[in-house]
Amino acid sequence: MDRKILICDPVDNVLIDKLKDKFDIDYKPEILKDELLNIINKYNVVVVRSRTKINKEIIDRGKNLKIIARAGIGVDNIDTDYAEEKKIKIVYAPGSSTESVVEITIAMMVMGARNLVKGVENTKDNKFKKLMGFELSGKTLGILGFGRIGKSIAEAARIFNMNFIAYDPMPVEYPDYVKKVSLEELLKNSDLISINVTMRKDSPYILNDRELSMLKNNVIIVNTSRARAINGSDMLKYLKNGKISAFVSDVFWDEPAKEDYELEMLKLDNVLITPHLGAQTYEAQKRIAIMTADNIINEW
Ligand code: MLT
Repeated sequence: MDRKILICDPVDNVLIDKLKDKFDIDYKPEILKDELLNIINKYNVVVVRSRTKINKEIIDRGKNLKIIARAGIGVDNIDTDYAEEKKIKIVYAPGSSTESVVEITIAMMVMGARNLVKGVENTKDNKFKKLMGFELSGKTLGILGFGRIGKSIAEAARIFNMNFIAYDPMPVEYPDYVKKVSLEELLKNSDLISINVTMRKDSPYILNDRELSMLKNNVIIVNTSRARAINGSDMLKYLKNGKISAFVSDVFWDEPAKEDYELEMLKLDNVLITPHLGAQTYEAQKRIAIMTADNIINEW
């Protein structure tokens, strides 16, 4: 049998339904590295989300691999250069979770501005204490990474009557209500920053100490893309001294955290982290599953 698929992470059933007549499928949504290394040579296609890493070692053992399918957007958990060298095709599902990521980003902006998490924690202890926050209206939102998701965030946030500035290293189009700026201008002028970048496996940090020192005081940083956009140990200093008033993020450097700076950060009151929920909606998972199955069929 040379049509064998291994699915390594939880996916919507529609992916299996669409492929089951054409392929022999093994669904192992909790598989760990050692087992994967032992069995990968049996498969022609491997499907992963962000949990499973497809590195050189796995690719070398996957002697029969023809396709690596990422059921999602980011391919930073795959050694794409090495896979291409080995003539293995990579497919992914761009655009499939935009709505879900935009919605959670807007929620996180409001969470950071209005003390919602602390307020909920207090009422659970039956403390009905009024906490102050600030309006988004009239503030400047800096969007770092103005691709599909960055653009849609600007569009959705228009309801708040904010000023928009954006930076992207790639030549992208900006609507008339968004001012194109340099990274430095974005850092110096934003009251809130939304990070919406794509990263590859070895992409360097975009924000190190030098860039973080340029931030406007009391800025809120929201990250719904990749943690590695920021040097976390550099950022810790600015979270502790209050230059960054809140860091609201759906992504973390290690998920779960393991480094000292990560564990220290999690304890801070101005750090609000959710467990990578951006694409975790029934609607997005269905779209991702359909697109991933179609991609596999087309590339086969
Ligand atoms: C993605 O890149 O699609 C997201 O990080 C979502 C995910 O894989 O869970």
